[in-house]
Amino acid sequence: MNEIKVNASRKYVVTVADSWERLRKTVDSVTKGTRIAVITDETVAKFYLDEVTDVLKGYEIFPYAVPAGENSKSMGVYSAVMEYLAENSFRRDDTVLALGGGVVGDLAAFAASTYMRGIRLIAVPTTLLSMIDSSVGGKTAINLGVGKNLCGTFYQPYAVYANVKTLSTLPEREILCGKGELAKYAVLSESISADDIDNYNSAEVIAKCISVKRDIVEADEFESGKRMLLNLGHTVGHAVEALSDYTIPHGICVLKGLYAAAFISKGASLLSEKDYSEIIDILKRVDEDISYGFSSEDILKEISVDKKSVAGGVNFVYIKKKGECEVRKTDTETLRRLLNGDKDN
Ligand code: NAD
Ligand code: GLY
Repeated sequence: MNEIKVNASRKYVVTVADSWERLRKTVDSVTKGTRIAVITDETVAKFYLDEVTDVLKGYEIFPYAVPAGENSKSMGVYSAVMEYLAENSFRRDDTVLALGGGVVGDLAAFAASTYMRGIRLIAVPTTLLSMIDSSVGGKTAINLGVGKNLCGTFYQPYAVYANVKTLSTLPEREILCGKGELAKYAVLSESISADDIDNYNSAEVIAKCISVKRDIVEADEFESGKRMLLNLGHTVGHAVEALSDYTIPHGICVLKGLYAAAFISKGASLLSEKDYSEIIDILKRVDEDISYGFSSEDILKEISVDKKSVAGGVNFVYIKKKGECEVRKTDTETLRRLLNGDKDN
């Protein structure tokens, strides 16, 4: 069992274990009331709702399963969750427990952060992506018609409990998505190796990734600077995702975005040939095909409408070497040249 202490606007512990054994202790240590709303999705509920309910015997459990998938991060589903809490007389002392991947995590966390101006939240992530990324750091969100994650809050959980055994039922496509984010950590930090990508389901590897994110979140909880590093690979990644009409999974798009970041950084003379090769080797541990497959003009068009773009360009995350990345505001023309393979001197 691994424990990572997070010291943000709320202090909390992330437990990474290989069973449910310590979940009860975790829940007891942060709850006050006796009622817990378990917000989950229909797929995760089939696998794990009974096991979790069993561990929490003695609490009054209110399960609420939303349809699996991104569409549940909507105003309509959010509103239904809020009504469910109110109809069941949830008070400020009570708890929301998010059981599932990043969709359920973002939705339940947004609900917990806004119900009665904030009630207790415990995250129990069940996908690789949600264990190493979305359950830690306090970003909550639902989507609006115009774009993803446009409505949300910063709200740190009271505790996070990841049982890595739940990864045994995760479909291959979702494992790939998580591995794409794991590759991001391997580029961002010296502490994560290429071999760790193959050992994605080890509690130690997951805990190491969480520690990398923890350090960044503690330094810049509200994303005014350093936290932008976590967007490494996401500028081109999001563009590819949109251009593919969301048929290429997010983590694979991040992988392709990481390749673009390496290529652009080499062109900008920030990444040496040798360090570039090391990064490419890391990325290929996830998937041999890291090419982005769309023209640089199409990618640039998508980047310019991305919500993370800033006046005249983007805050692009460059790679200097494994373990050393840097955010630089980059205008569209520079990005065009570098994406096209022109070199800076
Ligand atoms: P997800 O929650 O949709 O889960 C993927 C699929 O796996 C779903 O169909 C789910 O039912 C199923 N599933 C989950 N756990 C399972 C298990 N153990 N066994 C079998 N099936 C299981 O997707 P995700 O990739 O976990 O999360 C993506 C979401 O996370 C996106 O909405 C993204 O915006 C968000 N996100 C948030 C942050 C943040 O900091 N808040 C960071 C990254 C991503
Ligand atoms: N996933 C990006 C962040 O938490 O900032």
